[in-house]
Amino acid sequence: MRTRVVIVGAGPAGLLLSHLLDRAGVDSVLLETRSPQYVLGRIRAGVLESSSVDLLTEVGLGERLAREGDEHRGIYLQWTEGQDTERHHLDFVDHVGRSVWVYGQTELTKDLMAAREAAGRQAHYEVADVALHDVASERPSVTFTDRNGRRQRVEADAVAGCDGFHGPSRAAVPTSVRRTWERVYPYAWLGVLADVAPSTDELVYAWHPEGFALHSMRSATVSRLYLQVAPDEDVAQWSDDRVWDALATRLGHGRNGWSLEQGPITEKSVLPMRSHVATPMRHGRLFLAGDAAHIVPPTGAKGLNLAIADVALLARALTALLVDGSPALVGSYSEDALRRVWRCTHFSWWMTTMLHTVPADRGDDFDARLQLSQLRWVTSSHAGAAGLAENYAGLPIGF
Ligand code: APR
Ligand code: PHB
Repeated sequence: MRTRVVIVGAGPAGLLLSHLLDRAGVDSVLLETRSPQYVLGRIRAGVLESSSVDLLTEVGLGERLAREGDEHRGIYLQWTEGQDTERHHLDFVDHVGRSVWVYGQTELTKDLMAAREAAGRQAHYEVADVALHDVASERPSVTFTDRNGRRQRVEADAVAGCDGFHGPSRAAVPTSVRRTWERVYPYAWLGVLADVAPSTDELVYAWHPEGFALHSMRSATVSRLYLQVAPDEDVAQWSDDRVWDALATRLGHGRNGWSLEQGPITEKSVLPMRSHVATPMRHGRLFLAGDAAHIVPPTGAKGLNLAIADVALLARALTALLVDGSPALVGSYSEDALRRVWRCTHFSWWMTTMLHTVPADRGDDFDARLQLSQLRWVTSSHAGAAGLAENYAGLPIGF
C-alpha cells in the first residue's frame, strides 16, 4: 500500500490527525492494535480546554459536543483541616475570559470514528507486529499483520506515532538522539464511574489529610470520582462501601450543607501517576504526538488537550510539507509542540503536588503547610487565581 501519512494508533491523537489531514486533502492510513469496541470502552479523560473546543468546532466536530457537552466556568478547590472544610469557586471566565467543557474522551472518540467512517478513510484495527522502517529517510514505511493474518507494508511520506505510552513509535527515535525526563509520583488514583447524578455543578478538587479526592462527571446521570491511593494499591481491597466512605470524608459530605449522593459503581480501576517527556518529537519523517511523546499526571486535566494541540500543529506542518512543499513547519514541529508540552508538564506537576498529601517523614507537616498556603493564595488573590485559570482553561494552540 502507498499513502501520504501512516498514522500508528487510533486514540484521540491518531483519529483527529487523520481527520485534519483529510480536510487538507492529505491521504492517510490508520493502524490500531485494538478493536474499535475496545478503544471506545476505555474510560479516560473528561475535560476539554477552550482551544480544544474551538479547534474541534472549526473542523466540524463540535455539533454533539455543543449539544451534549457541559460548559463549566471554573472549578471548586477545597481543603479540610480538623472540623473545617473550606470550598472556593475559582471562576476561569472572570479571571481569563475562557471556560472549559466536560465531554468524555469516549464521546469525542465516537465523533472522530463516525467522521472517519463518513469520509471513507482507511483504518486497520486489530493489527499486530507493527514495525517502523527507514523513518530517517524520505520514504519511510510501516509493516504489520492485518486482522486476517496477512503481512502488509504501507509506504508513505511520513509516519505519525500516535500509539500512546506503550506503543513502538517512541523507540524508533534512536537512543543516540533521544532524551527522556520522568517523575513517578508516590501515589496513584483509584477512579470510579457511578450511575448517580453529580453532587456538584462543577468539578471539586479536594485536599484532605487522608488524601486527595476529585468529584468529576460525565453527564447529568453519571459521576466520575477519584481518590488518592498508594501506587501499588490493590483495587480488590476497595469495596463500593469503602470507596463511598472515603469519598464522603474527603469531599466533605455533611459539611457546609453539602452532601454527596451515592449510586451504583459501574467501573473501578487504579491509575498510575507519572510525568514523562521524550524528545525530540520528530526524527526525520517520524513525528510523535500525544501520549507517545509525553505523559502528565491527570490532576491538571491536560493529557487529552495536549494530544489535540500536538496534532493541530502536526497536521498544519504535514500539510505545508506535503501540499505546499514547504518544510519549515515540520522542521520546527518538535520545538513548537514542546513549548506547550513543558508548560502543561509544569502545570500538571504543580496541581498534583499542591493537592496530594504525602506521609510526613521528617516529623513535621511542612509540605502540608505549603500546600494549604498555596491553596489559600490561588483562591484569594487575583494573580494566583489567574495563573491557575490561564493554565487550566488552556493557552492558545500556537503558544
Ligand atoms: N500499533 C498500533 N496502535 C497501537 C500500538 C501499535 N503497536 N500500540 C498502541 N497502539 C494504540 C493503542 O491501542 C491506543 O488506541 O495507540 C492508541 C494510543 O491512544 P491513547 O493511548 O489514547 O493516546 P493518544 O491518542 O495520544 O491520546 C492521549 O489519551 O491516554 C489518554 O490521558 C490520555 O487523554 C490522553 C489521551
Ligand atoms: C475526569 O473527569 O476524568 C477528570 C477530570 C479532571 C481531571 C482529571 C480527570 O483533572
